[in-house]
This record gives sequence, structure tokens and C-alpha cells, in this order.
Amino acid sequence: MRRAACPGSYDPPTRGHLDVIRRTAAIFDEVHVLVGTNSTKTGLFTPDERVSLLAEALADLPSVRTHVFNGLIVDYCRDNEIGTVVKGIRGAVDLDYESQMAQLNRAMTGLETLFLPAAPQWAAISSSLVRDIARMGGSFDQFVTPGIAASTRKKLAAGS
Ligand code: PNS
Repeated sequence: MRRAACPGSYDPPTRGHLDVIRRTAAIFDEVHVLVGTNSTKTGLFTPDERVSLLAEALADLPSVRTHVFNGLIVDYCRDNEIGTVVKGIRGAVDLDYESQMAQLNRAMTGLETLFLPAAPQWAAISSSLVRDIARMGGSFDQFVTPGIAASTRKKLAAGS
């Protein structure tokens, strides 16, 4: 069984995230989408809410599981017999940041990281920009699924 992990903050999941997860599912037998809990300071959705958004958007892929995870990626991967992390790369800034994590993860346990180039149509999207546009009332529907767009509007309305 070839297993991969796709860790991230996913606040909210974008079409770029979903594209990388779907491409990973086409390569590996099982994909664990991991919602990290370490960068929730300015979070919009709770980690459990992000898991629900991802699970709904990926419901047609039986090989994809979505979990909240705490702690180190290397520990989760060791405990769940996952040998590879897959990350989407939008450009040089992502590559720089992700390369550092990839090097340290490999040094710690031998966990490998594969980089997938972001699809050009999603290469400029980030969750933080989607949150900004949504908070200021702009149109962000093209960057997320209809369900995630609706949940984002509902969440912002509830918080304002
Ligand atoms: O979407 P993001 O914000 O780039 O995701 C960051 C995340 C959650 C993947 C990253 O912070 C992470 O891997 N956290 C887990 C803790 C860990 O393993 N850190 C050491 C990496 S060398």
C-alpha cells in the first residue's frame, strides 16, 4: 500500500489545494489529508470545520481520508505507515519554505517529500488571500467550491 500525506492549514481549502490532493490520489493508493492545528491564530474555520469542508469536497474519492493532526508530520507519518508527503508548489517562495521542511523531515525519519507544480490557473491562489477578499465582500467564488464559498460567507456573517 503506497500512502501519501497532504498536510496544510486549509483555512479554507482552495481549488488549488483540491487539485493537488486529487492529483496525489491519482498516484498513491491512499491519501491522508492532514489539517494542521499549529497556525490557527488568525484562523477563520476551526480545524474540525476544515476537515468537514475537505471531506465534503473530496467525497467522491474513496482513497482520501481527512484528519486533524497535532504535533509533527514525521510522527503522524511514522505511526500511519506513510512514506511520502506531497506538497503543491506555486512559485519560488513556496519552494524555499517547503524545501526547508522537506529537508528536516527527511533528516529526522527519512520521510520523503514530492513537490507537484501548481496548476497555472490556481498558482496565484492562497487561503489567506481568499479570506481577505471574502472579508472585504469581494468575489471569491472561482477560487473555492460552491459549498466552501457558502460556508465561508456563513462563517463571516456569523462572526461580524
Ligand atoms: O498550509 P500551510 O500553512 O503551509 O501548512 C503548514 C503545515 C501545517 C503543513 C506545517 O506548519 C506543518 O507541517 N506543521 C506540522 C509540524 C511539523 O511537522 N513541523 C516541522 C516541519 S519540519
